[in-house]
Amino acid sequence: MGIRKVGVVGCGLMGSGIVQTAASCGFEVKVREVNDQFLAKGLSKIEGVLAGAVKKEKMTAAEKDAVMARISGTTRVEDLADCDLVIEAVNENVELKQDLWRRLDALCPATTLFASNTSSIPIRVQAQVTARPDRFVGLHFFNPVPVMKLVEVIRAETTSEATYQAAMEFSKALGKTPVTCIDTAGFIVNRLLVPYLFDAVRALEAGIATAEDIDTGMKLGCGHPMGPLALLDFVGLDTALAISHILFDAFGFPHYKAPKLLEKLVSEGKLGRKSGEGIYKY
Ligand code: 3HC
Repeated sequence: MGIRKVGVVGCGLMGSGIVQTAASCGFEVKVREVNDQFLAKGLSKIEGVLAGAVKKEKMTAAEKDAVMARISGTTRVEDLADCDLVIEAVNENVELKQDLWRRLDALCPATTLFASNTSSIPIRVQAQVTARPDRFVGLHFFNPVPVMKLVEVIRAETTSEATYQAAMEFSKALGKTPVTCIDTAGFIVNRLLVPYLFDAVRALEAGIATAEDIDTGMKLGCGHPMGPLALLDFVGLDTALAISHILFDAFGFPHYKAPKLLEKLVSEGKLGRKSGEGIYKY
């Protein structure tokens, strides 16, 4: 596969999880954030999760130190120029991602593979602004990245067989189970998950039960680790709303349309766990 050094752009919820997972699996990781404050926040989150693992005796302090030593942080995109693979985990904004790829395309050697962790922006739309659409693939991780076993490997029409195989191998080297999907809105999981989450909000709007009872129903009735409303808060209401717009535009099915309550909460800045309030208060 030839991947040793991994660059990650973005050290937020998903980026920090990808960094932690890759470093824990022996890869040298460089992570870029836009400023020192965001970088420090992301790195201290990783340090905190690893410290928790040491406390639970799931790893030794020396192992934790070794993982942290494989991670270096930067605010300069230029510092990712020597990576074998660069994964972006920045906000779901087409212009932002395209601008980043244009810069990286000019900086990195032609051999560097590019991967997007997008949950909704087509891979082709990102790959087309680079001179390496054959070396461009989607690697869609799930939150919390160190825990969730799945990676969706998105094979765009332009993705070469070698790039696809490298992405599959890399996912397995992270201890994940990769599934392959074509470059279509929502890929596999969000295409199925989003209508389910929205139906839970519609059930709440219709007053069929309390939020707690809807969640308990799905947890205990179906064996889900989290109920749909808690999961919406966990994913982020704004993220779910952004994905729903993409799905609705792509397919036009009414079940992809966001419920009024979700739009209202987002407009009030109630984005879920990350903002302290969503469906629930934290
Ligand atoms: N980073 C690292 N490890 C974490 C973690 C994190 N952010 N959060 C939890 N963990 C670990 C804990 O340390 C614990 O590890 P241990 O078993 O080795 O001690 C383990 O996960 C279980 O955590 P907790 O005991 O604290 O809590 P739970 O048992 O309730 O599990 C959960 C928490 C793993 C989040 C579980 O509730 C769950 O699986 N929820 C569903 C998550 C899900 O569906 N994610 C996908 C969202 S969709 C998505 O991401 C796609 C995007 O495009 C929108």
